[in-house]
Amino acid sequence: MAGAETERTEGPGEWGAREPGAPEAEGSVGPGGRSVGPGGRDGARTCLVTGAASGIGRAVARRLAARGHRVIGADIADIKDCGGAAIRADLATVEGRALLVEAAAELGGGRLDAVVACAGVGVFDADAVRVNGFGAIATLAGLRPLLAAGRDPRALAVASLAAVHETDPAIVAAVLADDEEAAVAASQAAVDRGEARLVYASAKRALVRWVRRAAVTDAWAGAGIPLNAVAPGIVRTPLSRPLLDDPELHALTDASVPMPLHGYADPEQIAPLIDHLTSPENTHVTGQVVFVDGGADAVLRGEEGW
Ligand code: NAI
Repeated sequence: MAGAETERTEGPGEWGAREPGAPEAEGSVGPGGRSVGPGGRDGARTCLVTGAASGIGRAVARRLAARGHRVIGADIADIKDCGGAAIRADLATVEGRALLVEAAAELGGGRLDAVVACAGVGVFDADAVRVNGFGAIATLAGLRPLLAAGRDPRALAVASLAAVHETDPAIVAAVLADDEEAAVAASQAAVDRGEARLVYASAKRALVRWVRRAAVTDAWAGAGIPLNAVAPGIVRTPLSRPLLDDPELHALTDASVPMPLHGYADPEQIAPLIDHLTSPENTHVTGQVVFVDGGADAVLRGEEGW
């Protein structure tokens, strides 16, 4: 069973330093008039990003580091250049999730100001629900006490446009009931009947439903912590590469994720929205699933989605 270890990396944005040439981050004034914005050493925040070794999580970590924030990256893989400290943890396991919380408490000095739960896999197997569903929820729920001790705390899950695709109600229900073995069993049943695609969509649907459910409770809204999800369409990362490299899968992907605006995105085009939603500037957006999908949700669900 994979464990967790922590290490400091020598990234360019090490603990609050700005990358050469990076824009000076702007400050802002929050309710009550005190300076709460990013930028300057006073505004530097401590932000934890899972999945920081690659793709969207890496782009988010690097953007936050470039803006002068202290970044703690977490991943099962080696984190080489996320711009801050690193935690190695397997978020598909109960042990790895516990070690994430322990290491984050240590590296964050008992508090965090922002958490981005981004780690995920795109594989079509039953175990995918462990990291995409339970790992993401455990990251947010497990780190919530550290956020509650932070300044202008914010939290965010990286979901997917796939959350609007067909799902398996048994998988969604098991994730929301926090029954991991039932969720894996339901996922395996879907794989066995040739519907492996339902596992990813169901884990992401459960994640956004959990976000909407939790966001308005005392533990989150009551504690002043906005909690949102972003739902990307197709983003060019190692996760989506197998879909785009195979001509047949590529055609299926284009049909299931139609992106009339600007086509596929790069991770750096997703990061600014996550940056905003987890910044002190976001005071009132909570419980939302913000699609950053080139129009795919609007195509698929149409105006009747509202
Ligand atoms: P990626 O493969 O580039 O990065 C995912 C990261 O998560 C990797 O660094 C990987 O090591 C880490 N990870 C995987 N399993 C883990 C585990 N058990 N414990 C800890 N870390 C683990 O993929 P990408 O595209 O950046 O994905 C990030 C998130 O965005 C995922 O949640 C994915 O579902 C979501 N997403 C991606 C889309 C895309 O088209 N690339 C579209 C919609 C959502």
